[in-house]
Amino acid sequence: MKKVMMKVNGRPYQFIVEPDRVLLDLLREDLRLTGAKQSCDRKGQCGACTVIVNGKAVRSCLQKVTNLDRAEVITVEGLGTPDNPHLIQEAYVLSGAIQCGYCTPGMIMATKDLLDRNPNPDAAEIKKALEHNLCRCTGYKTIIDAVKLAGRFIRGETSPDKVRPDPNGSKIGVSHPRPSAMIKACGMAEFSADIKLQDALEVAVVRSVEHHARIKSIDTSKAEKMPGVIGVMTAKDIKGSNRIKIIFPDQPILAEEKVRCLGDAIAIVAARTKKQALSAAEAIRVDYDPLLVLKSPQEAMAAGAIQIHSEWPNLCFSQPQIKGDAEKAIAESAAVVQAEFSTQINHQAPLEPEATIAYLEGEGEDAQLVVAGRSIEIHVHMANLQEALGYENVRYEEAYSGGQFGQKAAMSSEAISAAAALHFKRPIRYIPSLTESMVMSTKRHPFTMKVKLAADANGKLTAFTIDYIIDNGAYMVIGIYIIMRCMWMLSGSYGIPNVKALARLVYTNNPAGGAARGAGPPQVTFALESAMDMLAEKVGMDPLKFRKINSLQPGQSVSTGMVYDQWPFPELCDAIKPTYDRAQKEATTFNSKNGPMRRGVGLGTHAFGIGGPGDTGRVAVELDPDNGITIFVAVADPGEGNDSMLTQIASHLSGVPMKKVRLVTRDTDHTTEMGPAAASRMTYMAGGSLVLAIEQLRKAMDEAGTKTYEGLKKAGKPTRYMGSKKAQGKEGPLDPVTGQGPSFESRVHAIQMAEVEVNTDTGDVRVIKVTTAVDAGKVIHPQNLEGQLHGGMDQGVGFALREEYIHGQTKDWVTFKFPTMKTSFDMDVIVRETPREKGPLGATGVGEMTMVPTAPAVINAIYNACGVRIYDLPATPEKIKAALATKK
Ligand code: FES
Ligand code: FES
Repeated sequence: MKKVMMKVNGRPYQFIVEPDRVLLDLLREDLRLTGAKQSCDRKGQCGACTVIVNGKAVRSCLQKVTNLDRAEVITVEGLGTPDNPHLIQEAYVLSGAIQCGYCTPGMIMATKDLLDRNPNPDAAEIKKALEHNLCRCTGYKTIIDAVKLAGRFIRGETSPDKVRPDPNGSKIGVSHPRPSAMIKACGMAEFSADIKLQDALEVAVVRSVEHHARIKSIDTSKAEKMPGVIGVMTAKDIKGSNRIKIIFPDQPILAEEKVRCLGDAIAIVAARTKKQALSAAEAIRVDYDPLLVLKSPQEAMAAGAIQIHSEWPNLCFSQPQIKGDAEKAIAESAAVVQAEFSTQINHQAPLEPEATIAYLEGEGEDAQLVVAGRSIEIHVHMANLQEALGYENVRYEEAYSGGQFGQKAAMSSEAISAAAALHFKRPIRYIPSLTESMVMSTKRHPFTMKVKLAADANGKLTAFTIDYIIDNGAYMVIGIYIIMRCMWMLSGSYGIPNVKALARLVYTNNPAGGAARGAGPPQVTFALESAMDMLAEKVGMDPLKFRKINSLQPGQSVSTGMVYDQWPFPELCDAIKPTYDRAQKEATTFNSKNGPMRRGVGLGTHAFGIGGPGDTGRVAVELDPDNGITIFVAVADPGEGNDSMLTQIASHLSGVPMKKVRLVTRDTDHTTEMGPAAASRMTYMAGGSLVLAIEQLRKAMDEAGTKTYEGLKKAGKPTRYMGSKKAQGKEGPLDPVTGQGPSFESRVHAIQMAEVEVNTDTGDVRVIKVTTAVDAGKVIHPQNLEGQLHGGMDQGVGFALREEYIHGQTKDWVTFKFPTMKTSFDMDVIVRETPREKGPLGATGVGEMTMVPTAPAVINAIYNACGVRIYDLPATPEKIKAALATKK
């Protein structure tokens, strides 16, 4: 132990610490300061823990406290408060640089260090100074903008008051600061691991080291006697079904007789400290009887293959789609291309690990089990927990969330915390490492796709066939829904008269697939949009023109047979044309020089569905005694800006000032169910329901001739109203034989253009710029719209070029190849606003749009640059180099 004196945020402290105590733990655990976050496993990879020590930004997880005697430490809490924020915090809020906000405190502290040294940095200097700070949401562009704006504030060139939109001005089409942005900028938003839980036990989970095996025995005897251990639990200690069910009840919380995937949870150890829990977990012996491991759908579908689940065959679902006669049309077409494409398992890579807490509130049989985590559908997950644990009285509270990108449509650590809290009757904190978080969470499904695409002599598409196999991994999660989403959007932006598709979903012993930004369409669109470029070349037509002439026309049907009246895609082709011409010209000039560097331009498009068949939302609004409005609805906001959307729509329609619009969105006891904050649906479905609720409130006010709470009460009218939007069509799968039926009520359209530079010696690809022309209907909050588009572009480029999750090997942000300031690129957004007939105030949704066509745009740009086409994502330098060698 050593005595250390230190000033933190101006206050003197004295600590007596162990030699291995790091500053991050001291700040978070001893001083209960939660501004500094932990994403990576204290490896210096994420920068979320950045604070300033003696005037210099440092990663606090790497700083031994014993080396900091007499140091001055400033954390984000010491910089400013929501009432008195620092100019840098103001700049981050006003630039729209805060989405989930998990990276924000670290970014702000790194910015402070930079601007203290250099108040007028250029983009390169900003990138260098923030190179250790990761962000998954923004694509870094708005963060660079925020640093520049902070510099302008500090240099006195402008002020927050001059930049901030007038709160009394227009509410729609204006980027008012998000309601949650400032508390995130000041480190005061409570993420799951920040919640202070008195006397909480820490838990560690014993996970399978086998990919597929029967469990012969579990020996917990040694662990139970270890210091600090309160107890160990296994599946037999869970009173309910022990199964998490979204579609099939196939996923145990704790493994029963067998494990089906490396990392399956087998036992939970509860102890006084995390260290004790982890040591005891290591002492538990599990005896396995290994089974054949099915590593691919092909192995799993082979005759005689062992069945992974006794209740369901390995080929657990298939869905055809037939429109017209594709085979005949192909035989009669002037040009046909065919190819096989594949995509990788990928991780959604939210910065926040899978932390959750759980505790019993109240006593005895009436106690309520409270679970806090970052679920994006708290009511469904509450119901899952009730059934799995056999305990009815459950409340789920959504903490602030460090991103999720679809991942939290599935439950993971919540079930562990909740099971432990019930069993041990003590508050539980489960803060898994990043490595464990990666193991336990769902992934983007890998696809293999055989494609044919055909056109007539005029370049008009005649037919599309696709046979695709999806590796579902060990558990169903939302697998069938992934197939439906692909089929609903299969023909993308185009009018294709003949379509024939077959999708097969297969259990393997790989990690379970789940929702991941776009959830299905990014994979099939990679195949379709690659084939579009191949076919454009074959018919001798420019790729942009080829796409435009093949646009679906209003009144024509998509692959499901559903007809759309609005389809503003051709206008987007026109909108991007000048940029496309400029980029092509620049690439031609660049390529006229000799040398290994070649530039290329590529396109990708999609028409992403919003408001699935039968989708329903419900929102309640209540007029408050002070004539403000409270909105009650479980709308998760893991970073998209749903808080802005609800607040601005409500203020716009009711005339109530934004500061008097209150949101009750985060717990199951006080909200209506709204479904997942996924599928880009919240603006359309929750916003649409909110419009209907406020219309009812206004009608009641008009009838009562009043604008006030008192007036409504006096007139005997209710003060609370419910609005419910239902998307057209019936809920449920497509026709099982033809794949025909309703699709999404609305579409968001985009055409994406990537400019890349390929080093033909090394195969390295640098993305220079991605431009998207998008039409998402009426824009409510331009910064939030752009933020979603930027984030999707950045993740799309990662999906195209770098990112791949290899189970058991991808263990941190370096092995994952997380996007950094260094890999960031220029982004541009061209917005067109065609009001959608059924959208709230004419809006649709946009959260996943640019994730979908970015990968094919990049792959097409690589082909345009150097003449090699990559069919198997990610397009690593090794693959490109090998393809170039074959070409020579
Ligand atoms: S927790 Fe310190 S760099 Fe990641
Ligand atoms: S805003 Fe940066 S990780 Fe979410």
